[in-house]
Amino acid sequence: MLKLPGLIDPHVHVREPGATHKEDWDTVTQAALAGGVTAILAMPNTKPPIFDDATFDLAIKAASQKARCDYGQYVGAGPDNADIAASLAPKAAGLKMYLDSTFGELRLDDMQLWMPHFQKFPKSAPMVMHSESRTMAAAILFSAIYDHPVHIAHVSLKEEILLIKAAKEKGIKVTCEVCPHHLFLSKEDIPAISHGHPGRGEVRPRLATKEDVDNLWINLDVIDCFATDHAPHTLEEKDGENPPPGFPGLETMLPLLLTAASEGRLTIDQIVQKLYENPRRIFNLPEQPNTYIEVDENATYEIKASEGFTRCGWTPFEGWKVKGRVQKVVLRGKTAFEDGKVLAEAGSGKNVRK
Ligand code: NCD
Ligand code: ZN
Repeated sequence: MLKLPGLIDPHVHVREPGATHKEDWDTVTQAALAGGVTAILAMPNTKPPIFDDATFDLAIKAASQKARCDYGQYVGAGPDNADIAASLAPKAAGLKMYLDSTFGELRLDDMQLWMPHFQKFPKSAPMVMHSESRTMAAAILFSAIYDHPVHIAHVSLKEEILLIKAAKEKGIKVTCEVCPHHLFLSKEDIPAISHGHPGRGEVRPRLATKEDVDNLWINLDVIDCFATDHAPHTLEEKDGENPPPGFPGLETMLPLLLTAASEGRLTIDQIVQKLYENPRRIFNLPEQPNTYIEVDENATYEIKASEGFTRCGWTPFEGWKVKGRVQKVVLRGKTAFEDGKVLAEAGSGKNVRK
């Protein structure tokens, strides 16, 4: 049995408040524990979006009653909430800025709307950018101009990882995360994921080319964190008109990475670095005492959505054969998950900023 620290996922869409038919604080934290994740940072593109004190409290109240693992909540950057967002910084996981098209209402099209956030959000607190391609280049330039660290969410392209590498070499304070689906899937896999329903292949950023995927692996050292961007939508929604983009990912991330490790594509140390050490440092997260996970590195099995805890009920990795199973999760001295069962109680999760 391999013993690892409890993993940290800095990019999770919980869907509560507002879309609990997709997921809520209870089901998402069960999925997290099943995936070996003991702390999640929740994105603000809920309904309503989390952008002021009242909406922030709404999310935190639900979390405190239902979460079974530890959690933080991001505040979203809106067109005119820079002062409020900055005042929420001590309580928030960080600031999330949507600079490109996405699911939900938080989007800052005009660069003038970015400026007050860069000026006012505390430099010690993380600012996470949904920014793709040239918008990402602009976000990195803002980081340099305002001398404010930025964390680039879900890097998927060769041009992005290469520019982040160059920016780091220049001493610009940029960190980044990559999602398992951008490491293990490319455009070419869309037909197999879709089963005749093109909406199932929709995710933002889109699945990229083989060359992009290869270059993420080549530049593994440039990647600070792995993050799921767990973005659950029901199959009915994915297969309907106007399918929303997003894949669930909490339960499949570690098995996929362990499988890659068994094939010699990365090391266990790199997994721990990118799912524990680096996210803890970048997001200033407290230690979780007496917390660890036990993994059976040799267990082989097939990924089946029907055995999962996420409410959305599907996975783009259905039927994949993986090697490496989470057997047990201990959170603050208590067994929270064992042999496929969630044992942690609703409400036992702690706010990482409290
Ligand atoms: C996310 C969602 O569904 O909330 N979808 C996605 O494809 N990643 C939104 C987002 O992260 O942009
Ligand atoms: Zn996201």
